Amino acid sequence: MNMVDIIDQKKRGMALNEAQIRLFVQGAAEGTVPDYQLAALLMAIRLQGMNREETVQLTMAMAHSGDICDLSGIQGIPTDKHSTGGVGDTTTLVLAPLVAACGVPVAKMSGRGLGHTGGTLDKLESIPGFRVDLSEEAFLAQVRKLGVAIIGQTKNLAPADKALYALRDVTATVDSLPLIASSIMSKKLASGARAIVLDVKTGAGALMHTLEDSIELARAMVRIGQDAGRRVVALVTDMGEPLGSHVGNALEVKEAIDVLSGRTGGPLKRVALALGAQMLVLGGAAKDEAEALGRLEEALQSGAGLERLRRLIIAQGGDPACVDDTACLPQARVVRDVPAPAQGYVLRMDTVGLGMTAQAMGAGRRVKTDVIDPSVGFVLHKRIGDPVRRGEPLATVHARDPESAQTAAQAIARLVEISPQQTPPCKLVHAFVDGERTEMR
Ligand code: URA
Ligand code: CA
Repeated sequence: MNMVDIIDQKKRGMALNEAQIRLFVQGAAEGTVPDYQLAALLMAIRLQGMNREETVQLTMAMAHSGDICDLSGIQGIPTDKHSTGGVGDTTTLVLAPLVAACGVPVAKMSGRGLGHTGGTLDKLESIPGFRVDLSEEAFLAQVRKLGVAIIGQTKNLAPADKALYALRDVTATVDSLPLIASSIMSKKLASGARAIVLDVKTGAGALMHTLEDSIELARAMVRIGQDAGRRVVALVTDMGEPLGSHVGNALEVKEAIDVLSGRTGGPLKRVALALGAQMLVLGGAAKDEAEALGRLEEALQSGAGLERLRRLIIAQGGDPACVDDTACLPQARVVRDVPAPAQGYVLRMDTVGLGMTAQAMGAGRRVKTDVIDPSVGFVLHKRIGDPVRRGEPLATVHARDPESAQTAAQAIARLVEISPQQTPPCKLVHAFVDGERTEMR
């Protein structure tokens, strides 16, 4: 058995067996199979696909290519949530403290911003002093004591995925359902949570643009997780426009604190609670979604969620002053409104463009070594379907200098499409997937 045979077999559309899958995954992790052979195989997989069995075997091989985090010392059912990535997608900061306050341990390994999407770690690091690089021991100790910890992936988590993802990124092979599903689920399985709620985004700003493809990805990931013996469900949620109104690291932390303080409701709160409710059900703290939503709402109203966020920030070295006064978060030097260029209704948003605008302002990285400016970004004052008067503020930009403010303001005015035609608001949750069952919402 050699790599050329494996590539040839997949090229001709035949299924690979477990030994073949293990061979190339191990080769990717150890660097013993050259990149050109891996790249050729990835393209063959992209074009020919993989069946269910192959996809599960690929996921398991990638998960076992490095360390598996052992959460067995944690009381209860350690529960995680994963989003396929979005703009203004700050649900983790809202739901992690709420779910923990309701008694389900949240052991969360999060990521950094990627392309047009933001990352939870970058957002948390906008809180002065906050550390995301805890050791595995400190991570476990904190979940045991506080019920919640949010850290970066430990170094040796799914190294095969690191190698394969880097190649996919430069060989136009990211958009393959088995490759996406195995990439995400290998990391989730290796990070040790027994219950996982997946937030699969759909729409123009998502990895998968159509609802059909998004549901198919959700079903594939749920199946993989359940085959691996974990409790997994997915919600397919909307990314046709940014989820929260705030885009940018400190701005998104502010919006999450506003939600936990009861000052703001809206789509961010609704989606965070919908996902959190699934975590409570999988984690055994509620018998169904309705009971779970009630418990989360109670934890929000009583301030228990906000208090848990304060303790999370303190436990990870951050300054909790921002919990009581969000003005303690990093503030941008230049703040200015973006006037609406026309009258009508918001018809559409270029969500990818908006994410890239925040990135260009300094909220994200273009290359790995870029340093993020936590203070910059923008606040949108309108959502799809909202009426707009010409000249009223469409958004407010928070920029590091007047030039950057000007460039961002022009981009936003272009990326938010206003039309005389009235449009309904976007639906937030499109579908729920549990095993073979898909419920349209
Ligand atoms: N996120 C991942 O981790 N992997 C993919 O393949 C796509 C998105
Ligand atoms: Ca290599």
